Amino acid sequence: MNPFEAAPGALENLRRRCAVRGIELLLARIPDWSEREAGRRARESHTVREMARAYLASQGVVRAPLPNHPEGFPIWPDGWTGSFSHSAGWGAAVVTRSDAHVSLGVDVEHAERMTRDMAAHVLGPRELTAAPADDSFAQVAAKRFAAKEATFKAVHPVERAVGGFFDWRVDWVDDDGFVAIRESRPGTRPLRIHGGIASWDQLIVAVAWRPAPGCRPAAH
Ligand SMILES: CC(C)(COP(=O)(O)OP(=O)(O)OC[C@H]1O[C@@H](n2cnc3c(N)ncnc32)[C@H](O)[C@@H]1OP(=O)(O)O)[C@@H](O)C(=O)NCCC(=O)NCCS
Repeated sequence: MNPFEAAPGALENLRRRCAVRGIELLLARIPDWSEREAGRRARESHTVREMARAYLASQGVVRAPLPNHPEGFPIWPDGWTGSFSHSAGWGAAVVTRSDAHVSLGVDVEHAERMTRDMAAHVLGPRELTAAPADDSFAQVAAKRFAAKEATFKAVHPVERAVGGFFDWRVDWVDDDGFVAIRESRPGTRPLRIHGGIASWDQLIVAVAWRPAPGCRPAAH
């Protein structure tokens, strides 16, 4: 199944937001999802890398190895950057040229995982207060969490010092766009990372982008 057919509105919107920035958003359903399956993560890692390799090959970069840095983030071929996520039966890769973006982050989440306990660990007091009290709590909280995870993946490979979940606040710039804000604190500089988000059923895909210096940042 083409994942973009599963949620035509939300995912197409996110793909368009990425495309205008020169970011390729690649998604795959990963069948037979089971939390306990041995080797599941390795198989998912392979799937998202195969998607990225196929895209890079279409751009003239053949057989990109895409290994991981000892700190966990993927190492991209010269001239390229991107990010991976694989959860909840979905795999995602984002890829772009490094003259346009310093780094990217992508995250896939399933709102079912988002209990109130978990939210208290990943959302700050303002974000918790703003979360709805009704059944939409998990979805809204998971969207903020996904935005923070995508932000972490975009920030960590470059800055190393990311800070904790409470150092970041996610605000919505519109229904499908976010800004993750890290205020100034000793040892780190303030940062604002923009991104886009798609949310349908219980699933969420968030992409964070960091335009390269000198590249005109696109409007949200
Ligand atoms: C690293 C982390 C983001 C991975 O997320 P996850 O939900 O466990 O797994 P996902 O499937 O979404 O992502 C896995 C991919 O993330 C990437 N990744 C791992 N560590 C990374 C890092 N330090 N920086 C950027 N990307 C990283 C890898 O490509 C990995 O895929 P691979 O194992 O196939 O190579 C998560 O484990 C983590 O540490 N979160 C804490 C974030 C945090 O501290 N936030 C506070 C400030 S916002």
